Amino acid sequence: MNLDFWADTLPRTWGISGKLTRLDGEYDLNFLVEATNGKDYVLKVMRAGCAADLVDMQINALAHISETAPGLPFPKVFPSLGGTSLPELTDEEGQARLAWLQERLPGDCYAKVTPKSQSLILKLGRVLGATDRALKNFRHDGLHRDFKWDLMQAGWVGDELTAITDPHRQGLLREIANAFTAVKPTLESLPKQAIHNDANDYNILIDGDLGEAKQVTGLIDLGDMCAAPRVCDLAIAGAYVVLDHPNPEAALVALVQGYHAAARLSPQEIDLIWPLLQMRLAVSVVNSTLMAIENPEDPYVTISQAPAWRFLENPAVNGGLMSARLRAACYMPVTDGADRIHAYLNAHRGEFAPLFDRDLNDVPMGSLSVENSTWPQNPFHMPLSEAAQVGAEFGPDWWMGYYNEPRLIYAEPGFRKGPWKASDRRTVHLAVDVFAPAGSLLHAPLSGRVEAIENRTGHLDYGGVVILHHETPEGDPFYTLYGHLDPEVCDRLKPGDPVAQGATFCRLGDATQNGGWAPHVHFQLALTTDGMQNDWPGVGDPDEMYLWHGVCPNPAALLNLPEDKVYYQPVNKDEILQGRHDHFGGNLSLTYDDPVMLVRGWKHHMFDEWGRPYLDAYNNVPHVGHAHPRIQAVAADQLKRMNSNTRYLHPAQTAFADKIMSKLPEQFEVCFFVNSGTEANELALRLARAHTGAKGMVTPDHGYHGNTNAAVAISAYKFNKPGGIGQADWVELVEVADDYRGSFKRDDPDRAQKYADLVDPAIATLQEKGHGVAGFIAETFPSVGGQIIPPKGYLAAVYEKIHAAGGVCIADEVQTGLGRLGDHYFGFEHQGALPDIVVMGKPIGNGHPLGVLVTTKAIAESFDNGIEFFSTFGGSTLSCRIGKEVLDIVDDEGLQDNAREMGNILISGLKELETEFGCVGDVRGMGLFLGLELINSDGSEGTEICKYVKNRMRDHRILIGSEGPKDNILKIRPPLTIEQEDVEMILITLRAILGEVGEFSPAAPVPDHHHHHAGCGCS
Ligand SMILES: Cc1ncc(COP(=O)(O)O)c(C=O)c1O
Repeated sequence: MNLDFWADTLPRTWGISGKLTRLDGEYDLNFLVEATNGKDYVLKVMRAGCAADLVDMQINALAHISETAPGLPFPKVFPSLGGTSLPELTDEEGQARLAWLQERLPGDCYAKVTPKSQSLILKLGRVLGATDRALKNFRHDGLHRDFKWDLMQAGWVGDELTAITDPHRQGLLREIANAFTAVKPTLESLPKQAIHNDANDYNILIDGDLGEAKQVTGLIDLGDMCAAPRVCDLAIAGAYVVLDHPNPEAALVALVQGYHAAARLSPQEIDLIWPLLQMRLAVSVVNSTLMAIENPEDPYVTISQAPAWRFLENPAVNGGLMSARLRAACYMPVTDGADRIHAYLNAHRGEFAPLFDRDLNDVPMGSLSVENSTWPQNPFHMPLSEAAQVGAEFGPDWWMGYYNEPRLIYAEPGFRKGPWKASDRRTVHLAVDVFAPAGSLLHAPLSGRVEAIENRTGHLDYGGVVILHHETPEGDPFYTLYGHLDPEVCDRLKPGDPVAQGATFCRLGDATQNGGWAPHVHFQLALTTDGMQNDWPGVGDPDEMYLWHGVCPNPAALLNLPEDKVYYQPVNKDEILQGRHDHFGGNLSLTYDDPVMLVRGWKHHMFDEWGRPYLDAYNNVPHVGHAHPRIQAVAADQLKRMNSNTRYLHPAQTAFADKIMSKLPEQFEVCFFVNSGTEANELALRLARAHTGAKGMVTPDHGYHGNTNAAVAISAYKFNKPGGIGQADWVELVEVADDYRGSFKRDDPDRAQKYADLVDPAIATLQEKGHGVAGFIAETFPSVGGQIIPPKGYLAAVYEKIHAAGGVCIADEVQTGLGRLGDHYFGFEHQGALPDIVVMGKPIGNGHPLGVLVTTKAIAESFDNGIEFFSTFGGSTLSCRIGKEVLDIVDDEGLQDNAREMGNILISGLKELETEFGCVGDVRGMGLFLGLELINSDGSEGTEICKYVKNRMRDHRILIGSEGPKDNILKIRPPLTIEQEDVEMILITLRAILGEVGEFSPAAPVPDHHHHHAGCGCS
């Protein structure tokens, strides 16, 4: 291929010149032209003999779109100097070739873009809908063509199915072809118009920088245009959008919503989307199978089929529910009869036969919601002992459970939608429960016949369950389900049996009969059973309630109850956010672009108000895990007794002190109990000054020690920020011993000493200023500085210099202490250093406000000048019991060992990511104190990358933090209870998200995109 030859045609034909690069294209030549005028073009040279009419169709369609909808992302076509859009050129072999020159649109093809977010797919749907609107009045003879990619003509697939040798696959395609035949008459009744007909993932261009909203910047290659019902265009785009998407239903929903917003769809069209989408995939796999038979040595054909098969054979995709789902997503009734059924039920509210022998209007509601209830204690395991008691606080008299209530009682893995504990899970109750004594008799609210009846004996299943089929006077069917019955009903009724209104047809089972639950009926209404038959989900994914509210609406009317009484509304996140803005300072900051509200926790998982689970890989305060039963018990026990202060004797105080001392070197003999890390550091300063008579402090840059005046003064992370109070003259900063980014790097064997030597001039300055050296304070491993592990020996060398200058060495172990590091209980042990004061906070109370300072007898004596030291709540009986319990749990549950083991797996997984992804600059840490330094392609701090990754991890339900002077270090610091499967979730998710980042460099120019699939489509 002679690029120069075609480059030479440019000035002659279009009056431009430039550099050509070959782009891919099936049959024709496509070139990217980087023109000397600074613009980019695409030159398309059609193959010899290509009929002009189909190219003419495209050129005219582009002109039509740019006139009717100029905002749509289609390329302009540039006429030749001779004034024609499709000049004829002569190629090197002397053959005539039609050629045309287009504007080159920005962006990368959709196939290569990750993530394919809901909002992006929604935009794609909009563009497609608007395109079909713009094309509605476009006419061209070329549109009426006879070819295999016209979905209207897809019936040919049915005749070629024998080419698919796998009998299961052939059967699957046969079903799809049959479903297509069934809808074909409807399809034919719809108006035809010009459609793009090939919005595949290589024909869609997307642009947008990391973390910015991505845009659809091109819908290219109109070579497959034809005349067909517009829903074919949507179904074809849908067939690509669902492939290998982690949540294909949600992707299709977004596409359809977007399309519907731009070009209103009818329910009839919506019902065609799924069968057409499947048919398009059938055409695609059959076509490529036939091609493979023709070209047996081309492996690409089979590879390219794989995503379609993965989708078609995915058992998790429920096609039966698709019509209801897509209708609901477009705010339409889920079935044609839905509005009539609602009207009927509403009109007869109060007239239905009572379900039980009493008026339910007087029965109180009881909430089992995530926010209101602690059933079950462990949201990942519901033991029968708890199930049989569930809601006991509302009984033993009658009470009712809410519709639309998110609950954690559906704890078994079967309710999860993915492999992890933090995977999406179904939590929202789709029925109303009536809790009543076992044996209570139920009456049919209205007449019907038995649709299904079964005894489901699985763990926490329904036991006896009946589904009744009803009809409105207009003949619209709907269904009611009664779960947790005494299975004796199965002996009396069978499918098809009539049940008269008011008839006593079953009774509540007890826990031995009803799946194991406290006696109640689960009463659910459904307007269709498509896609669920007799196996209705009793609870739905909170993110799919748009569907479930339509399919299984509130059954209140059938119970003669007002809707509101039984309809649960969880606390509204937006209102809480507003209240937060109204009543709190702006610098009380919230994490994440889309903040999370968390109302329950268990070990290292947390739950939002809808019961969505999150893996907590961030919080080091719940050291032994959220909601630890032993902490609950000890706190409740002590509060039952009394809670007082250190002015009275109590064995809990000395027991706590003994426990702490057992973890420390012998020289530590005295404890001070306070309420926070800040208060402990504040006190440490006073002790150091009292002991030395000096005022000056040396501390590493970027450190953090607390939020009070003196604590801020020694926290460069605060005072040195823009708007900070600035550096006090009694404080000297030294460079943080960061051997990745700092002055002395890992290849320097003397770096520990070199960093320590930086303390010398700091000491000298303090002495010159007359402050003297009261001491040195450092986070043993700087955390806000970027999860830094100083080179071994650094602190020991620093302490030696400080001691020589008469100062006191303070180890702030708030972040690093109590076993988190795995190999060490405290960070100073790793450094071979012996501090004079150790400060503990955060984890030591597992969330209860508690700070502890330990020091030597000598220092404590210097401080004891006759003035009382008293901190009202510090060392309260409650605090001491909790603090000791935390330390005991770390020992009893082997959490320090777990920190080491899990930390090692994490570190080796992270190191793998470091070799795989250029944006991972460094992996560091120890145990469960870990940092991942993210960098731009020029090596600078990847602040935006870090923000992006943190927010995307949150999207994937993993909470992690970010840290460092430039906020480019991901910090992973979970509760010490984290398990191997959680570690795997972190690593697998992080790998996927780092893959989205690519080569990001804010300083560098936008990378080139050389993807432009374009054929003339005359195949
Ligand atoms: C190392 C270090 N020291 C002290 C503190 C202050 O502790 P508190 O917020 O409990 O006052 C913190 C808190 O983040 C910390 O990380």
